[in-house]
Amino acid sequence: DWSMENFVEEQISKIREQVGDRQVLCALSGGVDSSVVAVLIHRAIGDQLTCMFIDHGLLRKGEAESVMKTFSEGFNMNVVKIDASERFLGKLKGVTDPEEKRKIIGNEFIYVFDEESAKLKDKEMEFLAQGTLYTDIIESGTDTAETIKSHHNVGGLPEDMKFKLIEPLSALFKDEVRAVGTELGIAEEVVWRQPFPGPGLGIRVLGEITDEKLEIVRESDAILREEIKKAGLDRDIWQYFTALPNMRSVGVMGDARTYDYTVGIRAVTSIDGMTSDWARIPWDVLEKISTRIVNEVPHVNRIVYDITSKPPSTIEWE
Ligand code: XMP
Repeated sequence: DWSMENFVEEQISKIREQVGDRQVLCALSGGVDSSVVAVLIHRAIGDQLTCMFIDHGLLRKGEAESVMKTFSEGFNMNVVKIDASERFLGKLKGVTDPEEKRKIIGNEFIYVFDEESAKLKDKEMEFLAQGTLYTDIIESGTDTAETIKSHHNVGGLPEDMKFKLIEPLSALFKDEVRAVGTELGIAEEVVWRQPFPGPGLGIRVLGEITDEKLEIVRESDAILREEIKKAGLDRDIWQYFTALPNMRSVGVMGDARTYDYTVGIRAVTSIDGMTSDWARIPWDVLEKISTRIVNEVPHVNRIVYDITSKPPSTIEWE
C-alpha cells in the first residue's frame, strides 16, 4: 500500500542498492524538488553525496546566500558553490529565441557539472541526481512526439554526458513532493517555496538577456515577493513573479517625458503547474506593488498584470 513513509523507505533502499559505495553528485538549486532529492539521497548514502550549487547569474535576489545557508549550515551537507555567471551570460549573449535560451542554459549546466566534478579529485562521480518530476516528463514530450517547452532537466541533456541519472521523484506531482519533503523533516519555508524554473530569470527577461534587464527583473521580483508575503498571500498563490517583456513605452515623471520598460506581474493559482488560473490579488496589494516598483526600480514606468489562465497561456512568459 502506498504512503509517503513507504515511498521514502523504498526510495532510500533503492538508492543504496543502485549506488553501492560509489559517489553521487546532486544538482542543487534550492527549489523544493532538488532540495527533497538532496535530503533523500543524503539520508540514503550520507557523505557519498556531494551537492553542487551553480550560480548561473539568473537567480533571484538573495537566493545564492539563502541556499548555501540552508544546506551547508542547516543540513550539514557537502555543498560546493560554483559561480558561473560570466560563463552562462556569455553564452546567452545575443540569443533571443526562448527554446534556444533553455537549451543553452540546460547544456551549460551539465558541462559545468562535468568540469567541476572532475576537479573533485578524490571522488569519482558516477551518478547525477536530479529533481525531475512527472510533470516535467510529460510536458517535455518524452511520451508524445510534441514538445510544449523543453524543460532543461529532461529535454536538453547533451548526448556526450558521462553521468548515470538518478531521478527519484519522476513519478510524483508537486504536492506529493511537498509531502515527501515534510516526511523527511525539511523546513516549511523550503517545502513551501514556490517553484522556480531551472533557466531562472533567463526566461523571465524576454528576448535578449542583458545585465540591465536582469537587474530590473531581480529588483521588481524582490519587491513583489516582499509585498505578497506581507499580505499573507504566499501560501495561496502557486507562483508569483515579474517578467520583463521586451518593450518600452512613454510615461511622464515630474515634468519630463520618459521612455522606459514595462514590467509584467504574473501570479497564478494551480494544483500541479499543468493548468493554472490567474490569482485574484486584492487591488490595494497590486497598487502597492506597482507604486513601489515604479518608484524603486530605475527604468520602469509601467506595470501590467497578466490575467490569462493556462491554457491558453503558460505560467512563464517564455
Ligand atoms: P509553464 O510556463 O510551461 O510552466 O506553464 C509550468 C511549470 O514549470 C516551470 N517551468 C520550468 N521548470 N525548467 C524547469 O525546471 C524549465 O525550463 C521550465 N519552464 C517552466 C514553471 O515555472 C511552472 O512552474
